[in-house]
This record gives sequence, structure tokens and C-alpha cells, in this order.
Amino acid sequence: MKSYNVSVFPGDGIGPEIVAEAVKVLKFTGEKYGASFNLTYGDVGGASIDSSGVPLTDAVLADALKADAVLLGAVGGPKWESMGYEIRPERALLALRKELGLFANLRPVKIYNALIGASTLKPEVLAGVDIMVVRELTGGLYFGEPRGVETLADGTKRGVNTLVYTTAEIERIAHTSFAIAQKRGKKLLSVDKANVLECTELWREVVEEVSASYPDVELSHMYVDNCAMQLIRDPGQFDVIVTENTFGDILSDEASMLTGSIGMLASASMGLKGEVEGLNHANGRAMYEPIHGSAPDIAGTGKANPIATILSVAMMLRYSFDMNDAADEIEVAVEAVLDRGSRTADIAESGVTALSCTAMGEEILKELRK
Ligand code: IPM
Ligand code: MG
Repeated sequence: MKSYNVSVFPGDGIGPEIVAEAVKVLKFTGEKYGASFNLTYGDVGGASIDSSGVPLTDAVLADALKADAVLLGAVGGPKWESMGYEIRPERALLALRKELGLFANLRPVKIYNALIGASTLKPEVLAGVDIMVVRELTGGLYFGEPRGVETLADGTKRGVNTLVYTTAEIERIAHTSFAIAQKRGKKLLSVDKANVLECTELWREVVEEVSASYPDVELSHMYVDNCAMQLIRDPGQFDVIVTENTFGDILSDEASMLTGSIGMLASASMGLKGEVEGLNHANGRAMYEPIHGSAPDIAGTGKANPIATILSVAMMLRYSFDMNDAADEIEVAVEAVLDRGSRTADIAESGVTALSCTAMGEEILKELRK
């Protein structure tokens, strides 16, 4: 039996609740497909601030660095919001991404037929939508220097963040995105703001150059403001979208609403070792997490939707452990459960009794046990 080390960081708010359900699914499918998972738990974010005074301890980071994969819930909450930038819970997430070298963040946006009514958009706009947003995750505006807020001589303040990318950073995310597009609909859209921002003009140029190695993929470009509009107007036109860190943060939240709820969107963050390995990520570092936050308003009420985290486990099995059948089975189980009408509060139409987080996890497990 194959054995893998997985670091589990439940984090804050609803994090522990959704991760508990996802871990049950990971263990169950692992056993069924002949893999055992050695799980080590650690505090990150607010939980870590409370237990150790910092959002990410060296010990937890070391654990993540040697793990075969990381499963993360969510971080942050009002309790820690007034803290200084350097010790806020979100720092844990950013530090993990940076230290693990997870530059490629894959956020699949898939519409489930059963949930078409749960979206605020018209059904005919949504049918068949299947998008992969590839968000650059360790560069851009999130990490550029200089940054910070300074007080000027006259006592007023000046805040600065910097949008910066090197050719190498753009090349690797472009290669990853083209490789992903090759395995999907062979269409890649690169999103920038090249009419205004020089950094993204470079982005466009480099993506163009990389495209020469992928003649079978059709490359196009779009400005980010137009893309935001097109995602609502006609999301069916997109296959793979690659973009800058901040643009990807915003566009993926927007795209999540096509599915009816941000509680449905999983993600995989990867740092490829050496050569670009496309989608087969065995042996590379990776972290899996839902794209939503810690939802402190519903923490502890049982209202959280565990599906995004359970689908993140499916992505882990697929990309980190090459267990495609197991991943397929989880995705099919989620679809089946939705098809027979099971809903958590975020995706329940009016009049439908919503399941708790645990009950939804149990429904999915029941389906897997069949
Ligand atoms: C996300 C989140 C994070 C981000 C926050 C929690 C720091 O919004 O993963 O999309 O901005 O990247
Ligand atoms: Mg976000």
C-alpha cells in the first residue's frame, strides 16, 4: 500500500468543520484505492496566533515543506482584523504559498446541472460552463516590492504596492496554463491590463512567445475589465484563463457565482519541480484549499458547505497522487448527491430543508460507500 504524508491545517472560522468532512472523504477513498494517508495537524492563521502568537510557526512551515501535500481550510476572522499586517492570519496563507513555491493556482469553475437554479444568472447563460482559472500565486501585486504605508514629512500618509513580474515568472505560469489547456478544450485566454500597465504588457508579450511551443492551443488576450464583464455576459466562451495574482483573486470570486455559491469552488496550488510537468504533479509541492474564506458569521452553526473542500481533496488525489479514478469517484459522488436534491444552506432554493455541514459530508460518504 502506498503511504503519503499530508499536512492538515484547518485554520479559522468554518475551517475545522469543512476540513473534518474532507478528511473523512480522503481517508475513505484512500483506503478504497490502496493508499494510506499519514495526517499531521497544525494551527495556521488566527488559530496559530492564539496558540503561538504568530500566524505561521517555523515548525508548521517545516511540516508543510516536507509533506507530500497540504490540505488547508480557511484563515482569518474579526478577532484578528485589527492586528498589524505582518501578524494577521492571512500572512500564514501568503507565506505558505511563497515558501512552498506554489506559483500556479488552479480554480475550476464547473456548473452542476442540479444547481443551475441556484445561480443568480439565467440558466441558458450557464449551461455547460466549464472554466479553469489559473491564477499566478506568488508574484504580482500581492508580493511586489516596494510596499507599505509611510508617513510623510507633512504628517500625511502614502501607501504603496507594486505590480511586478519577471520574464521567468510569466514563462512558468504560461507553460503550466498551456499544458492545462492542451488537456482540456485547447483554448487559453490570457488576461491583462496591457493598455495601461507596462508590467502586464510584458506579461502579454511573454505569453505570446511561450505560445510558439503549443501550436495546438488557441491563444487569445483580453483586458481584465472586459473579462469581468464577459464572465457574466457569456461565460461559455472560456476554457482556460490565466492571469495575474490580484486579477485572478477577483475574477475567480466573480466566476464562483456562476456555480451558485462560492462554497462550491475548490483549488489546487502547485509549485512544479524542475521541468514543467503539466497536470501530472506527482512529487511536486502542492496545497489544496477551498477558494472561500473562513465565514466567521456562520462558524459553529453547522451551516457551512463542505463541498469545496471535498472537491479540493479530489484535486489532491488527482494532481499529487495520480489517483484519477479516486478523484473521479469523489466528483461523481458530489454530483449524484446534488442531483438527488441534497443542499447546504448556501445552495438551497427556498422551501428546501438545508443539510448541515456534517450531514452533507455524510451524504457524500454514503454515495462513496455504494
Ligand atoms: C483567496 C483568498 C486569499 C487571497 C486571502 C484570504 C489572503 O481571498 O485565496 O482567494 O487573497 O489570495
Ligand atoms: Mg480570494
